Amino acid sequence: MSLKLSADLHFKSEDIISHACRTLSSMGSEIRRVFLLGQKLREENPDIDLVDLSLGNPDLEPPSEVRNELVRLAQEQAEGQHRYMDNAGYPEVRSFLAGRLSKSEGIPIGRDSVFITCGAAGALQILLRTLLDHGDEVVLLAPFFSEYRPYVTNMGGIPVIVGSDGSHLPDFEKLRAALTPKTRAIIINSPNNPSGVLYPEHVVRGIASLLEAHRRETGRLVHLISDEPYARLLYNPEEMVRVLEIYPAAWLVRSHSKDLGLAGERIGYLAWGPALALPETINALRNSARALGFVNAPALMQRLLPRVFDASVDVSLYRDRVNTFVDILSRGGIDCVRPRASFFVFPKSPMTDDNAFTEQLVRYGVLAVPGSSFGKAGYFRCSLTQPLNRVIEGARRIVECAHSKELK
Ligand SMILES: Cc1ncc(COP(=O)(O)O)c(C=O)c1O
Repeated sequence: MSLKLSADLHFKSEDIISHACRTLSSMGSEIRRVFLLGQKLREENPDIDLVDLSLGNPDLEPPSEVRNELVRLAQEQAEGQHRYMDNAGYPEVRSFLAGRLSKSEGIPIGRDSVFITCGAAGALQILLRTLLDHGDEVVLLAPFFSEYRPYVTNMGGIPVIVGSDGSHLPDFEKLRAALTPKTRAIIINSPNNPSGVLYPEHVVRGIASLLEAHRRETGRLVHLISDEPYARLLYNPEEMVRVLEIYPAAWLVRSHSKDLGLAGERIGYLAWGPALALPETINALRNSARALGFVNAPALMQRLLPRVFDASVDVSLYRDRVNTFVDILSRGGIDCVRPRASFFVFPKSPMTDDNAFTEQLVRYGVLAVPGSSFGKAGYFRCSLTQPLNRVIEGARRIVECAHSKELK
């Protein structure tokens, strides 16, 4: 008997959505609650002036070079430009990136040690699929980009959260204790989302030494995944730490979502050093890209990369917003580690319960995300992807809320 669509045929949520997927949806609940509160407020009062600091969607438009080159590329008539290609990306683009990375990262990187991906997110998924077996543990250092959890569990991995100190740098004792014979990888993200903090070189070296000691004790190699989508949004580019040079089993994840303002175009890459460059490495990654359905990164964006590699959005605009915002909060008595890159600020919540504080902020017309969503309660994240005057208004309201009688 065929199933007929009729007015009285109602499927329930569990008929459609798996248990696993429902668990995933509940993980983003803090961010969604803030979003829904804001939406309710807008419905109640359509003229309300909300300062939305919740979404990490970069607002600076791509530099003019990007627009010009895109127009040129779209007009080129060469045959086959829009076809499938090697899953790893166009060989000539990989050669270009390999040359640039060999200089910037201080170690030789060959063409077959670069894999072009659909942004950093695509690179992380392809890499985790390649590294993880079911039940393998992946260490995440709080505060961390909340999507790491599903990226790891997608591949049957188990996220193991390690806390940080007041400067948002990893707690080494806790990290040592978290390493087990099942640890397969650790993800570091510096400059960091949500805190804007840069891990200084001695911190990266400290992590590498712990991993080396763990290998000596257990025989288990722990991969170090360095997720660096904000590397080129450092206010002082000289400060960038070369992770590939420090640890032989390190993987570099980069993206142009933020530095070229191309988040919607999905372009980034994965690179690794000579120790990981076995003949089978790149093929394993190709198979992962196919199995996950990425196939290859967008062709047009790949061809664009060598032409605009040295361009960037104006980082000083993000820096000025961040510094102004931090100054206003600090004068208002709100503690905050001053970021060294990008557009995120992660202040300490004036209430111990960061969820309650961000709910309170909505009443003052500010949307921000509780630190618990990033594995670090007691803080809240503000994304300064708004013009400076809105950022100033947001900071002013946050201070006002922090001193309000509701919080006393
Ligand atoms: C730390 C971190 N990693 C990865 C990503 C994903 O970036 P992409 O757009 O390059 O996939 C983001 C995006 O916000 C991020 O903040």
